[in-house]
Amino acid sequence: MQKLLIFTDLHFRTPGETILGVDPESRFKEGLSHALRRYPDTAHLILMGDLTNSGKVIEYEALKAALSEVPVPYTLMCGNHDNRLNLLETFPEIEAIATGHLQRALDIGDIRLITLDTLDGPPFRNDYHEGHLCADRLSWLETALASAPGKVIICMHHPAWSTGLSGMDEIKLRNADAFFEVLDRFNNVAHILTGHLHRTISGKARGYSFSTFKSPNIQTPLFLENLHISQSTPEPGAYGLVLLGDDIIVHTEDFQLALDDVEHCREALPD
Ligand SMILES: [Fe+2]
Ligand SMILES: [Fe+2]
Repeated sequence: MQKLLIFTDLHFRTPGETILGVDPESRFKEGLSHALRRYPDTAHLILMGDLTNSGKVIEYEALKAALSEVPVPYTLMCGNHDNRLNLLETFPEIEAIATGHLQRALDIGDIRLITLDTLDGPPFRNDYHEGHLCADRLSWLETALASAPGKVIICMHHPAWSTGLSGMDEIKLRNADAFFEVLDRFNNVAHILTGHLHRTISGKARGYSFSTFKSPNIQTPLFLENLHISQSTPEPGAYGLVLLGDDIIVHTEDFQLALDDVEHCREALPD
């Protein structure tokens, strides 16, 4: 089985700035080194959007430095807190699609990973958080699905469904119908992975199974009602590990709570 690492909602800030007392840069480095120590044979690392908190070049530069010695290939995705132009300015080696969006089709064995760009902009505003897939991006998605060698995993920052977290439901993908219409023209989408919600959630939406991951730094508390999108909690950070094979298995690891080594496990079922 090939291994895929997922880190989402990094929210890098200007070096020295924190979120709820958490330094996003050091927390990401802590989580990534934990993951790569455990899984050095990782096939690919996906950074699933909200790479930065404000989309500033200085934030992307901090991310670039943090990724400079990562020994596995990686893919950067956009979220609502990103600025696509500043991202591309800082990472000129990234190939955008013809319309300038950051979408990618990546085949690992006969499984195709499709990473979508759900950032609604330009303009890139700090007070606007809904996701969108324009006609160009949906057309590109259709082509990528049509040419897939086997089953497909879709990676997208914004979920295209509600989860019951009322505040977050207001800022999901706003043209979900158009997105699912494209998926429904094929029968090869095996699973959808998302970020944005800062919480471990799984389920099935419009017939498609999905998994959503926590951030390495701050999380959304499980209060379904009356939760404003700016309200978060510094619960422990996490990353995702996806096993790609005949089946698709999705794990999450709260790396700040995790043991360093199997030798540290204690016997829970004594004779
Ligand atoms: Fe986020
Ligand atoms: Fe987000």
